[in-house]
Amino acid sequence: MEEAFMQRTVTCGELRGCDDGKTVILNGWVDRNRNHGAIHFINLRDRYGKTQIVVDDDSSKELEEIASQLRNEYCIAVKGKVRKRPDEMVNKDMSTGEVEVKAEKIDILSKCQVLPFQIEDETNAKEDLRLKYRFLDLRSKGMQDRIRLRHEVIKAIREYFYKTDFYEIETPTLVKSTPEGARDFLVPSRIYPGKFFALPQSPQLYKQILMVSGFDKYFQIARCYRDEDPRGDRQLEFTQLDVEMSYVKRDDVLALMEDLFGYVFKNVVNVELPKAFRRITYNDAMEKYGTDKPDLRFDLEIKDGTELANASSFPLFKSAVSGNGTVRYIVAPKNEKKDFTRKYLAELEESAKVYGADALYFIKVENGTISGGISKFFQGLDKKVIEKTGAKDGDVILFVANNNWKKCLTSLGAVRNKLGSDLDLIKEGYAFCWIIDFPLFEYNEDEGHWEAAHHMFSMPQAEYIDTLEEDPGKVKGDLYDLVLNGYELASGSIRIHDVELQKRVFRICNFSDEEAEKRFGFLLDCFRYGAPPHGGIAPGIDRLCMILANMNSIREVIAFPKNTAAMSPMDDSPSFVEEKQLDELSLEIRHNDEN
Ligand code: AMO
Repeated sequence: MEEAFMQRTVTCGELRGCDDGKTVILNGWVDRNRNHGAIHFINLRDRYGKTQIVVDDDSSKELEEIASQLRNEYCIAVKGKVRKRPDEMVNKDMSTGEVEVKAEKIDILSKCQVLPFQIEDETNAKEDLRLKYRFLDLRSKGMQDRIRLRHEVIKAIREYFYKTDFYEIETPTLVKSTPEGARDFLVPSRIYPGKFFALPQSPQLYKQILMVSGFDKYFQIARCYRDEDPRGDRQLEFTQLDVEMSYVKRDDVLALMEDLFGYVFKNVVNVELPKAFRRITYNDAMEKYGTDKPDLRFDLEIKDGTELANASSFPLFKSAVSGNGTVRYIVAPKNEKKDFTRKYLAELEESAKVYGADALYFIKVENGTISGGISKFFQGLDKKVIEKTGAKDGDVILFVANNNWKKCLTSLGAVRNKLGSDLDLIKEGYAFCWIIDFPLFEYNEDEGHWEAAHHMFSMPQAEYIDTLEEDPGKVKGDLYDLVLNGYELASGSIRIHDVELQKRVFRICNFSDEEAEKRFGFLLDCFRYGAPPHGGIAPGIDRLCMILANMNSIREVIAFPKNTAAMSPMDDSPSFVEEKQLDELSLEIRHNDEN
């Protein structure tokens, strides 16, 4: 049998001054090996920290030889004696900085090839290289800290739900393909040729069924799969905290989440959150911030420009407000970060155009007068414009006019966000808010029918139930989103638990009764057997960890994410499979000229 390796007696993060004189064994990676003549200072690293190992000039020749072979990321075992460093040599940046270990024996457990990039606290290697060598990237302090943070978030969530008497229940990941908003990932069935399972976009229907089955307080840390284009805050597979409760109303769900996030933030980052989060209706969020996920870490608000448009002689504004159009503006404040040059105003306009604005019109305020841009259409109205907008000298008033209310506001919302980051207006901290009173349906112009704004299982607000079909666009749902620092952190709703109402919603969303029975018959069946009123919510764990880690991409808080091209550079998936595997699944690949 091969000789056992020298197994660690301590980790690289735990030795302190009081350990002086102890003989210890450490295992870890060479973080750095500096040598001054015959003396080597080797920083040894593991998950817990770093310890300095010293090979002195009085060490044996053999030990000195091994020390000089050590390259970064060699995995080694070191036996040695802990010694206190003289006061002036104490390294305050290392938790073990009071001591070092004078090596007596070093074994190389495993060598490391030339590294594709250096493992530093935060590497600046290209992301695809980091993802190809994710096993190395994960050794960096930044990734180690973020994976620990994620672990602590999940631990705190579980602690909270266990102490509040929720059951943790797993639901299947091979499920029936049911439309839930995004495209399904399909899994072919070998046993039933031509039939497919889908991977769940979320456990939505299963958690509702669990309510019908009597598990009135459920949660799950659930993997979800959606075949959509990845983005900074989106992955093909991601993790949700999925929650559902019976006999609850909206405010019970909101209060539970406020309490949960209070617990998680206190325990993970020691931040005290307000007991209740601000609530903003969807309509107000759109009107004030131009988005249903406003970043409330800064105040800048969008304002109604109808009165100014009427007072102006600008034909485009006048026709917008006399028709069905919308004119809104935002005041960009004078600041030290950015001058409102022609170039910068063009950049702001570009950000508005992404959301459908035709143009971003401006008026500058200087010395108590207005100038530039469309000010010529406000002749003699300087005082009125300045008073109405509250703009001060050096500020710029930015307008959008559009026939479409949503386009007008989302365009200004994008300008607001850009101003927030460019002008450094965003304060540190965590700004939570609830967005409530969402519309239940949205019109799909491409397909020419209504569809659910969230999903089809959400309850319309009581006052709309009798007249749903009359004007679906007016119906508000018992829906809520939790927003944190400009990200949609969670979505949820009170659910429909009545067969007839559920069928009416399906019909509005263009599902005939037969189609609805075929696809959702199992859910409708449940509702025929004593379904309790119920509701729930699902916060995204990746987004939560991303915000807590102060990152811009959820890939930074996922151990093995897919890249922006929706593949994994490390294992090169997705990949082609053997013809035999396809045969077993009765599948054939249709090759066209492009592949
Ligand atoms: P929804 O689709 O809004 O709701 O998702 C809930 C939360 O999950 C996170 N999330 C994602 N995170 C990373 N990558 C993605 N592709 C992705 N998609 C969503 C977000 C989002 O707020 N069944 C409902 C919930 C319910 O009604 O209870 C649902 O899945 O943080």
